[in-house]
Amino acid sequence: QFSRAELEALCDTATAIRRLDRHRDGREFLLAILRGHRVMNLFAQPSTRTAQSFIAGADKLGATSTLVSDIQTSSFAKGESIADSVRTLSSFFDAIVVRHPDDEFATQAAWALHNSNRPVPVISAGSGKSQHVTQALLDFYTLRYSFYERGGVDGKRLVIVGDIARNRAARSLALVLTKFRPASIHFISPVDFAPDDELTGYLRRHEIEVELSDNLEAWLRERGREADAIYMTRLQREWDSGGAAGQPNHRATKSELGADDAYVLRPDYRLLVREDCVIMHPLPRINELPSEWEDHPGFVVWRQVRNGMWIRAALFATINGAAGEIRARAQRLQL
Ligand code: CP
Repeated sequence: QFSRAELEALCDTATAIRRLDRHRDGREFLLAILRGHRVMNLFAQPSTRTAQSFIAGADKLGATSTLVSDIQTSSFAKGESIADSVRTLSSFFDAIVVRHPDDEFATQAAWALHNSNRPVPVISAGSGKSQHVTQALLDFYTLRYSFYERGGVDGKRLVIVGDIARNRAARSLALVLTKFRPASIHFISPVDFAPDDELTGYLRRHEIEVELSDNLEAWLRERGREADAIYMTRLQREWDSGGAAGQPNHRATKSELGADDAYVLRPDYRLLVREDCVIMHPLPRINELPSEWEDHPGFVVWRQVRNGMWIRAALFATINGAAGEIRARAQRLQL
């Protein structure tokens, strides 16, 4: 839904908010942007970063937030429809942020409000296995910052490792990258958790070179120094429910996954990648990105977390028509 220009503007707005927040007058200015607004955060799946960064981002602009993290405490538990629930919530809130295991929940919520008398915005905070749009936005913002002095994302070689088939963050990031001109995206995953043809076909139609492999160590030994960024992901065991191989709910066997550390960026691999390679992870991590990487010059994982707050604040500002005013104020204060 975003054009390249809109993505660039969103990132510039996030930077303006970050800079204004460090400045006394700037902070006062920001707090007036959404004063009196109320944000509902409806999370039907666990979250640490996304939920809290939406709350912190809204807070930076003066809005207040409510978090419902157990929807069994709402009337969904009595069988209320998505449409009735979100129409009810729209009576009390100015934006609804939703995370749900159903890929279509956020879309259905948005359509339910589309023709209502209070069409408040619905923002997906993670939709099933398919999309994690705001994670992709903060990941893009982090990549853009990391490559700022190297010509941006265009022409870069990106490597995405892990359970791609079920990782909504990796999928959304790949889709955002189609708005730019990365040279290639190389997916390294167990065969049963490779990206689907729909995703790889879409990337190729956008003239992005797509490569697939299932051996992280072999790839790094042969071509690790080509990587401009490595995006690690965890194996998403929460989706396992015993489906057949090739199905998204398949519980991979040990032999399918290879050695325990087959998709771990082992500390000894540091010698195989460049010092300026950007090392990312959407978190939470299990063992796939050991803490020994934290002093690598390209390690930006904690910056990604912090950027989640700035980009989500920028999204609220954009939706409310305040982004231009925010960028102009930062410019006027020469921030
Ligand atoms: N990256 C991410 O979505 O983290 P949480 O599940 O903690 O929100």
